[in-house]
Amino acid sequence: MVKKGIILAGGMGTRMSPLTKAVNKQLLPVYDKPMIYYPLSILMLSKIRDILIIVNKGQLETYKKLLPNGKNLGIKISYLEQKKPNGLPEAFLIGEKFINNNKVALILGDNFFYGQSLTLTLKKLSNFKQGAKVLLHKVFNPSSYGVAKLDSKSQISLIKEKPKKFISNYAITGLYFFDKKVVEYSKKLKPSRRNEIEITDLLKKYLYKKKLKSEILGRGGAWLDTGSIENFNKTSNFVSTIQNQQNVKVACIEEIAYLNKWITKKNILSSIKFYGNCEYSNYLKKIILSKKN
Ligand code: TTP
Repeated sequence: MVKKGIILAGGMGTRMSPLTKAVNKQLLPVYDKPMIYYPLSILMLSKIRDILIIVNKGQLETYKKLLPNGKNLGIKISYLEQKKPNGLPEAFLIGEKFINNNKVALILGDNFFYGQSLTLTLKKLSNFKQGAKVLLHKVFNPSSYGVAKLDSKSQISLIKEKPKKFISNYAITGLYFFDKKVVEYSKKLKPSRRNEIEITDLLKKYLYKKKLKSEILGRGGAWLDTGSIENFNKTSNFVSTIQNQQNVKVACIEEIAYLNKWITKKNILSSIKFYGNCEYSNYLKKIILSKKN
């Protein structure tokens, strides 16, 4: 089991400017809640309770207004700043002390996952002794993503960042699980041509040692990288459709904590007080009522 997780919630958000000029991308609304609730909910569904959120320099206090310390969710949230977006594996350099020689999950703050068997997939993902594990999802336009080729035994045989020539439809999503070696390997990474250290290079270190495994988020699952305006709006519409059809919320972090038995009714009541009189609070009220029956 993996007990620690990092949400990488910095970045420039250039593709979404001007929306991201004054507000960090991960604080923008995806339908009815801030974007960061979605990756946070994924870590919580993976039963991870010790969470580090990495934010841009100067944005710590803004984030803390929304997610102070995790106590009321039965988890521990801590924060660190990234001076500038030097690349995804920098999370493991910034978070070295937090990781403290343990296994760790990393989720990108702008990644959205949804699916019926997601909890089971997450369980499988976090169940490994050593090496690294990634979550793959079939896409139409693999040349826009980091991609993994699978061999006849469904093992990853090749990974490539934004391949111009087709190698596979399986995109590597923004959720990764690593063993404690991740810090050591990340320290050895050299900046790429765009002057960032690259997650693909880190994954290759595991691949070459035959220690890179994967799970697939199947057809019933959805993965959206909400980093472009188009996908950002698509995700909002997706959440709205699901929630209004099924009358349940996607990524209600209090509900997940409650169902995980990490918190009690008292915590939900204090969340209702925190949010004030709003539709989200009404949903929280329903949760405690329905549990009573
Ligand atoms: P990207 O989408 O690569 O970058 P971005 O969010 O800055 O957007 P744009 O390309 O439009 O400028 O980042 C993916 C996620 O990782 C996103 O949630 C921001 C985060 N991130 C960091 O926190 N630090 C980093 O060094 C990088 C590269 C990304």
